[in-house]
Amino acid sequence: MGSAGGFPKASFTERQSTDMKVLIVGSGGREHAIAWKVAQSPRVEEIYCAPGNAGIGQIATCVPIGAMEFDRLADFAEEKAIDLTIIGMDDPLVGGVVDVFAARGLRVFGPRKNAAILEGSKAFSKDLMKKYDIPTAAYETFDDADAAMAYLETSDYPIVLKADGLALGKGVLICQTKEEAMAGVKEIMLDRKFGAAGNRLVIEEFLTGREVSVLSFVDGKTIRTMTSAQDHKRALDGDQGLNTGGMGTFSPSPFYTEEVDAFCQKYVYQKSVDAMRAEGREFKGIIFFGLILTEKGPRVLEYNARFGDPEAQVVLPRMKNDIIEVIEACIDGTLDTIDLQFADNACVCVVLASGGYPVSYQKGFEIHGLENFENREGCYVFHAGTKLVDGKMVTNGGRVLGVTALGDDLKSARANAYEAVKLVDFEGAYHRSDIGKAIDEA
Ligand code: AMP
Ligand code: GLY
Repeated sequence: MGSAGGFPKASFTERQSTDMKVLIVGSGGREHAIAWKVAQSPRVEEIYCAPGNAGIGQIATCVPIGAMEFDRLADFAEEKAIDLTIIGMDDPLVGGVVDVFAARGLRVFGPRKNAAILEGSKAFSKDLMKKYDIPTAAYETFDDADAAMAYLETSDYPIVLKADGLALGKGVLICQTKEEAMAGVKEIMLDRKFGAAGNRLVIEEFLTGREVSVLSFVDGKTIRTMTSAQDHKRALDGDQGLNTGGMGTFSPSPFYTEEVDAFCQKYVYQKSVDAMRAEGREFKGIIFFGLILTEKGPRVLEYNARFGDPEAQVVLPRMKNDIIEVIEACIDGTLDTIDLQFADNACVCVVLASGGYPVSYQKGFEIHGLENFENREGCYVFHAGTKLVDGKMVTNGGRVLGVTALGDDLKSARANAYEAVKLVDFEGAYHRSDIGKAIDEA
């Protein structure tokens, strides 16, 4: 493949090029980061992305097929003789896109539907952790609003309500009082604010501590964890404002110490993979562990069945391996032969969002300054919501760009990222100015 942008290219061992064609499914900053990483593989000749975005379109061919159009995606993969399809997003995974591809003999990376339930149902994942003694918050599951409300009468507060199914990352309510919690049960279970995701409800103990994300590659039996990262979910500085899809990330997390890692390797990671296997739900793909480091030790807050967005944007630039090799090992069940390695540096991603996000915002504003990144070493702009209109790059979503920079350590990566943020602009753009600030307390 050609140039993959401003980050230095990792040097891979020479091997025979296999002229692979790769299809990536999704359209956000995460998929841009995956495409960027795939583009560096000497084995890859062509990259397609469905549906993609304008930034992805600079390194891949975007195809106008939606991520939930499973048959059309598989038709396309067959027609183009795609060698490998990588599913970036949660909805198609939970909906069973991998089973559709597999049934047609197409090579695809991601968990099958019966394993993607690890993300698709909070009740399932909580029951799994309880059954296999994986440390998590205490909880109860409810199918019925009256029973949930009765339980809230005698609970301690704050308390956490979680809609069982996928709810665009918005199905978690942290309630300070009984009244708030009662209103939350009504919203989720009676008013069906998140649709069928609210058929069941998990009510969970509120935990406090630092949050850290650990992504991992899994081949059904072996797990290889990647370097740690931390997201910033709230819209505004100081963790104020509404929850968003993620306003920025840094990697590694200085709070993810060797001691925390040793604990999780022993009590969380391999145990989760083994538990899925024991349940007849062999997991192949990415498991994203959302951890909280409490006073009593690490606890699992949630599992996701795919790369995080914007965690992928700071983890993949630090990965030394050829991602194609690692993904193929996951599919083939040979991950035990892979030595997964990350550079001894740091990465920070600052999201530039549209004014008004995450509530309501306008689209179509021209983005200025992207040309400044063309020859800027150690910097890259991953596109989330962008579109080309008459040759101009314009905003097309709530999260628009992820300005990402490497550095020797977290402080310099953060300084580099915020220098780079000054180079690009569009009407109404806003960003948090404290991404990675927590490292000052480490
Ligand atoms: P989730 O979608 O499960 O990751 O939840 C979204 C966010 O809600 C997490 O990143 C945490 O910040 C918060 N959260 C979820 N569960 C709990 C909990 N049991 N205690 C405290 N905060 C939580
Ligand atoms: N950044 C959190 C997520 O991808 O779910």
